[in-house]
Amino acid sequence: MTHPTRQHFIVIGNPIAHSKSPEIHQAFAEQTKLDIQYRRQYCPDDPQSFQAVVDAFFNGGGVGANVTVPFKQQAYSLCAEQGGLSEHAKVAGAVNTLLLKDGKVYGDNTDGQGLVNHLRQLGWPLQDAKVAILGAGGASRGVILPLIEAGIGSLTVANRTPSKAQDMLEQLCTASPAIEQLKPTSCALEALTGDFDIIINATSIGLSNDKLPLDERLSCDYAYDMMYGRDLPFLTHFEQQGASVSEGYGMLIGQAALSFERWTGATVDTSKL
Ligand code: ATR
Repeated sequence: MTHPTRQHFIVIGNPIAHSKSPEIHQAFAEQTKLDIQYRRQYCPDDPQSFQAVVDAFFNGGGVGANVTVPFKQQAYSLCAEQGGLSEHAKVAGAVNTLLLKDGKVYGDNTDGQGLVNHLRQLGWPLQDAKVAILGAGGASRGVILPLIEAGIGSLTVANRTPSKAQDMLEQLCTASPAIEQLKPTSCALEALTGDFDIIINATSIGLSNDKLPLDERLSCDYAYDMMYGRDLPFLTHFEQQGASVSEGYGMLIGQAALSFERWTGATVDTSKL
């Protein structure tokens, strides 16, 4: 049986079997009454294979693709060379959403705005907030511009390797006047101290058994871990101090909703998931 109105989507990753994106997008399709198929697409970890998967998908009539670990930077390079990038993708240096624009593959990044939308849904105050982000890798870089656009008042990036945080902020300030205007600062993880409104863990420490070397005097009203679905000592630490806490599953839903909206034009109510 053919489905003339069915729209096709994929998420490209390696590994990919664990991805929850097909279920999330299927739920969006049911909510918006659209007929979609969304599949997991494994890809060998090299640029030629990634290009081949992207070409085969769009040449075959695919509407949109999500890109996950380890391909977000490869997707950025592909779009930079071939079809263009959104402002958020440019500043993040990474692409999580592919679509066709004028017949060419165009890259967007909805991760940071997905986080901001989740924080708003939680009711956490962002306007003028004093924010610290732990980590200076891709996850951290991708959320900084959307947080600043959301109106935060100050930003400190703390990292195990402080020079990486400093280099990242220098690059971001060059890439975006809005980031430069806020004058974000950086420091070593253990040097981060004082009281913050919101602290966001964007390190990948949750994948290891290591413990973050946090100062005893570091405190916050709200603590967010971009990881989810596992034991997160970072959140337990601040919860015991009385902070409100959240893991990052809502960010996953948030970024997916924005991708879905870009592709289909339909609006999703994430509070109903
Ligand atoms: P991602 O794309 O998920 O951000 P990444 O680019 O590899 O991944 O960055 C991982 C981040 O987690 C980095 O900030 C890293 O710190 P370093 O820059 O010092 O490497 C941080 N990180 C990873 N493991 C950590 C650990 N055990 N303790 C503290 N920070 C850690």
